[in-house]
Amino acid sequence: MESPYFLPLLASLQIFFLRGSPADLPAPPNIFVSPEKMEYLIGDTVSFRCVAPPSKDKIQGFQFSGTTGWAVDIRTFRKTYTYTFNITGPKDGGSHTCRYTIIDRLLRPVRSKESKVIIISVKDPPPHPTLSLNTSSGVVSEGYPLLFICTAPGNTVEHRFHFYKEGAEVIPGSEVNSSETSAQLCIPQSSQNHTGNFTCAYEEKVEGRWILSFASSVVTVFVKEPPFAPELGVDPSSAVVTEGYPLRFTCIAFTDDSRLRFHFYRDGVEIPPGQAGSETTAMNPGNFTELLFPQTPRRFSGKFTCGFEEDVGGTWVLSPQSKVLEVTVKDTPAQPDLILNPPSGEVREGEPLLITCVAYGTSGEWKFYFYKDGTEQFSEACTRNHSFFSIPAAEPTVTGQFTCRYEERVSGKWIPSPLSQAMMVTMQASSLHIPLVTGCAAAAAALVLVLLLAAYICQRRRGHVHWKGLHNKDDTSAYPLALVS
Ligand SMILES: *[C@@H]1O[C@H](CO)[C@@H](O)[C@H](O)[C@H]1NC(C)=O
Ligand SMILES: *[C@@H]1O[C@H](CO)[C@@H](O)[C@H](O)[C@H]1NC(C)=O
Ligand SMILES: *[C@@H]1O[C@H](CO)[C@@H](O)[C@H](O)[C@H]1NC(C)=O
Ligand SMILES: *[C@@H]1O[C@H](CO)[C@@H](O)[C@H](O)[C@H]1NC(C)=O
Ligand SMILES: *[C@@H]1O[C@H](CO)[C@@H](O)[C@H](O)[C@H]1NC(C)=O
Ligand SMILES: *[C@@H]1O[C@H](CO)[C@@H](O)[C@H](O)[C@H]1NC(C)=O
Ligand SMILES: *[C@@H]1O[C@H](CO)[C@@H](O)[C@H](O)[C@H]1NC(C)=O
Repeated sequence: MESPYFLPLLASLQIFFLRGSPADLPAPPNIFVSPEKMEYLIGDTVSFRCVAPPSKDKIQGFQFSGTTGWAVDIRTFRKTYTYTFNITGPKDGGSHTCRYTIIDRLLRPVRSKESKVIIISVKDPPPHPTLSLNTSSGVVSEGYPLLFICTAPGNTVEHRFHFYKEGAEVIPGSEVNSSETSAQLCIPQSSQNHTGNFTCAYEEKVEGRWILSFASSVVTVFVKEPPFAPELGVDPSSAVVTEGYPLRFTCIAFTDDSRLRFHFYRDGVEIPPGQAGSETTAMNPGNFTELLFPQTPRRFSGKFTCGFEEDVGGTWVLSPQSKVLEVTVKDTPAQPDLILNPPSGEVREGEPLLITCVAYGTSGEWKFYFYKDGTEQFSEACTRNHSFFSIPAAEPTVTGQFTCRYEERVSGKWIPSPLSQAMMVTMQASSLHIPLVTGCAAAAAALVLVLLLAAYICQRRRGHVHWKGLHNKDDTSAYPLALVS
């Protein structure tokens, strides 16, 4: 339909259009908004209806735009178009206009003047809540509870709270306990996969609709591996010690952390600092502590363990206890028995004298020492609990006061016993003729003596604790002759 005939005119028209003022553009459309509100809420659905004025021009489409920078083009031949969208945030607020497009005589699209402006004012989401943990820092040890508290600001409107980890809503099953303005999320037993960034938000009911608030700031949680049980060591390593001798424990924590507090336990009860003269020494590095009993108390045997506390983000977290070490505390060796044969201690010249020293204890290793008037006569190491000192033919020099003692091997240490009671050996003149009656009387006297001796040993055995420490062989003379007293 267009012919070359029109070409010059069209060319001049083009020049005319390019120079044209806005007044020459197609008349502006009408714009209507629905619903009309002073303030729109997030979630509101808004419709703009753009109506082109009556004209013979062919409509090609509409454009809707907002001052926040968006524009949407719609192709249609209708004279009216309604554009609907949901308000999702403040970016949907501001001024909005529409235009329509026609095809001019040169078949070029021409946009109309802008419609009047419609201003949408979007109500801000509710202000962000505050998220906090009830511990001083976000570091906890695995297994310990985590308590989050999400508090909405101010007013007492109805709220619905949500907790998020890395932006994903926290799994139901974790308990959420909410009041009107705050909610708690309790994770009764944290595990390492709770490590992460937590936030919370709440919904507030506005005009019958739940509006989600801005998110709280991030709370970072770090769930540490639980502490390993420490290792308890003991010296002597056999865990057998004699009362009065040193007993040393060491507790080693397998951690680089030096802020540790160590505890030692005997039969499950914590050993208080300084008990029985004990000394606790914190070592360097701090993952190592020593407990020393310079003199192990009597009857202190027991099951020993240790544990420690670790400062995890301001909370002292108790480690599991070490394996049990069973320690045996032995009494000091008991006083030995010294037995003479002949029992009276009266020996004839040339006749044999047998002296037996009997040890106590169960160690299976003993050393025996025999003394006459404080001077060592004989010694031997034995695996039996008695030793013999034998004089096959007594000479007059045999006369004197005999004692013995032993040492018992406990955990590699030779532990000395006290001295036995002293026994007097006397020489009976061989030339002397003793009448039978005298002999009988002597035998009777000897019997009484033996009975006395037995009584005496029993007494001493019960009371041998008083002899403790008096095991120096130089002390022999300190014990006066018991039998003949
Ligand atoms: C707007 O929100 C309604 C529900 O609130 C939904 O059904 C609709 O699909 C949304 N429209 C758009 C364009 O997102
Ligand atoms: C934090 O809350 C948990 C759970 O209620 C509780 O067990 C824990 O002792 C609290 N911690 C502190 C430091 O208050
Ligand atoms: C919520 O916490 C309150 C006290 O803080 C308590 O009395 C109530 O039992 C808790 N509710 C639930 C469902 O745990
Ligand atoms: C977290 O760890 C626990 C065990 O410690 C496991 O049962 C749970 O499935 C884990 N959760 C995730 C999300 O990995
Ligand atoms: C938590 O956020 C910090 C930065 O805020 C980031 O470096 C870290 O990787 C996040 N942690 C996790 C587990 O996503
Ligand atoms: C004790 O701590 C130090 C550093 O403080 C570390 O090198 C060592 O490995 C730790 N010992 C144990 C047994 O974990
Ligand atoms: C000495 O050992 C024997 C067995 O070897 C035992 O029967 C006896 O009771 C022990 N004597 C003392 C005093 O311990």
